[in-house]
Amino acid sequence: MTELPAEIAEALAKSAASDHAAARAMPGAFYTCPDVLAAERAGLFAREWLCVGRAEEIPEPGDYMTYDLVGEPVAMVRGEDGAIRALSNVCRHRAMPVLSGQGKARRLVCPYHSWTYDTTGQLIGTPLIGKRADFDKRDCRLPEFRSEIWQGFIFVSLNPDVAPLAPRMAGLDRIIHNYHFEEMRTRYVAHEVWDTNWKSLVENFMEGYHLSALHRETLHLVNPTELCAHYPAGDAYFGSFAGFTPDMEREKVGHPDLTEAELDTCVMIAVPPNLVIGGASDYSSFLCIEPASTDSVRVKLGLFFYGDDWPDERVDWAVELFQNTMAEDKVVLENLGRGLRSAHYRPGPLAGAAYEGCILDLHQYIARRLGLGVGAA
Ligand SMILES: [Fe+2]
Repeated sequence: MTELPAEIAEALAKSAASDHAAARAMPGAFYTCPDVLAAERAGLFAREWLCVGRAEEIPEPGDYMTYDLVGEPVAMVRGEDGAIRALSNVCRHRAMPVLSGQGKARRLVCPYHSWTYDTTGQLIGTPLIGKRADFDKRDCRLPEFRSEIWQGFIFVSLNPDVAPLAPRMAGLDRIIHNYHFEEMRTRYVAHEVWDTNWKSLVENFMEGYHLSALHRETLHLVNPTELCAHYPAGDAYFGSFAGFTPDMEREKVGHPDLTEAELDTCVMIAVPPNLVIGGASDYSSFLCIEPASTDSVRVKLGLFFYGDDWPDERVDWAVELFQNTMAEDKVVLENLGRGLRSAHYRPGPLAGAAYEGCILDLHQYIARRLGLGVGAA
């Protein structure tokens, strides 16, 4: 495994060993050093479950969507049997990516030389190749990666030995069960590139300390900082609660299982390293995050809704609030890189579990996964 630079490993181990009351931010190099990113790629992104989107984005047999998973072309394809498979999206002929974007196909046909696969990845067509002693298309298929669906999210791992995800999420499932995110339907998806470090984006999405300060005209009115609370992290997740302003006029839409308190609470969820969710009864947001470099991130952003009767204008309103909020975050995050490179920055104290607890949770998760042996959840 790629090693962290010694001074970062030391700072991370120290930070991860602290409790929420004593937690501090990390040095700038944690975010800007290419060796740290190399260690994270090898120790986290190449080994862990990574989210690529929502199952209902590909609802019917033959529906597919593609994703470059830390540089590896992957196609999620729903087969005739209804199962979603994560296939290597690289033609077994001369390496052309077979599918691109999102669409529907009963046969997966490579655009280069028309080699053709069925929806399970089995090779079924090789024009003009003819009979050969060294090649039989029946023995050839697109490799399949491990995949799992959790709460409607599709997870893929490039690590064939990765431990199953579902058992590790049991503690969180008990907290979010009544929201039934698996029944929600995605109505908005965007793909963007943000000039920030991937950890800065995860931290920003997950911490409630900045909600009232930065998002004064947007999120503060809905989820003010003072209504944030923290829940204990698990091995594969962490998060917090963001309460809705009680006197706000808000239609209480959601699953009948939900309690009044749950209807009034947004659950912030991270499934590190790459998925963050702002989950609520009526509609929820998610980001799938993947580092392109130390200060560039590819992000898939989405909104998913409970119930099929959302008129377009209500969806548009939610999309606009989401976009405005994200735009405010983007300005901060793209400026943050300059500060993190300053020779004069010294990490400050974090604001406590309710407000910035998720930052320590992320650092403890990274420390555990990179073998620093501290910060057990
Ligand atoms: Fe924000």
